[in-house]
Amino acid sequence: MEVIIVNNAELAAKKAALIYKRLINEKPTAVLGLATGSTPLKLYSELVKMYENSEIDFSRVTTFNLDEYVGLPEGDKNSYRFFMDENLFDKINIDKKKTHLPSGNVDDVNEHCAEYDAKIKHAGGIDLQLLGIGADGHIGFNEPTSSLTSKTRIKTLTKQTIADNARFFGGDPEKVPTHAITMGIGSIMESNMVILLAFGKNKAGAIKAAVEGPVSAMVPASILQMHPNVKVIVDLDAASELELRQYYQWVYERKPDWQKDA
Ligand code: F6R
Repeated sequence: MEVIIVNNAELAAKKAALIYKRLINEKPTAVLGLATGSTPLKLYSELVKMYENSEIDFSRVTTFNLDEYVGLPEGDKNSYRFFMDENLFDKINIDKKKTHLPSGNVDDVNEHCAEYDAKIKHAGGIDLQLLGIGADGHIGFNEPTSSLTSKTRIKTLTKQTIADNARFFGGDPEKVPTHAITMGIGSIMESNMVILLAFGKNKAGAIKAAVEGPVSAMVPASILQMHPNVKVIVDLDAASELELRQYYQWVYERKPDWQKDA
């Protein structure tokens, strides 16, 4: 696990965007695992800028999002499909047919989830999975005590996640769906590379537990300690509880030039 501490979220987004640029230029048919929420917004703006400057061509890229709320009507502005179209897909030259999100409106949820995992497999697996982190350590909507080998499935959100996400629903927790379909922790762990972004003081405890705590289903993000290629890119506030933060900075400053891709 490589921990990269930067001064602010803008710099984190720029660093992460360079990794996407390199990947997609090297592999135009790259398969990206994408996330929603506040955390990836600056990164998505950077990717749009790179597209507009002809630095990235998304025409052959395939994407799979982590999750989708259950029960929101098609086209609802709080659905993650709407979020992705608005913040990324409608602004770049991606083929929408190659963009995938779980559906929160299916009759047979189990069958749909199994199909989602099969589609990822059929696409050759995820090259680069983007993650945010919940204040309770969740990744995707894999809440504490989620099986660390889980596949795509339906999960019940915790009260904390519902409260955290109420800001997108006019501040009313009653309007936040209680269930979501999420890629499982096992599915996330199968991706070739993971970038986890976290910004702000309210993520500091989760980052500390995920990076330096024991691997535990109580902190789903802690499983990333077992993944061979993870970059955790955090701002100073999110890094503020890390015991070894000076060491991570020391390591990063001494990275050989050929390794300085982020
Ligand atoms: C979103 C997702 C969630 C968020 C997490 C942080 O697709 O899977 O795990 O990444 O809840 O949300 P924000 O970024 O809004 O703080």
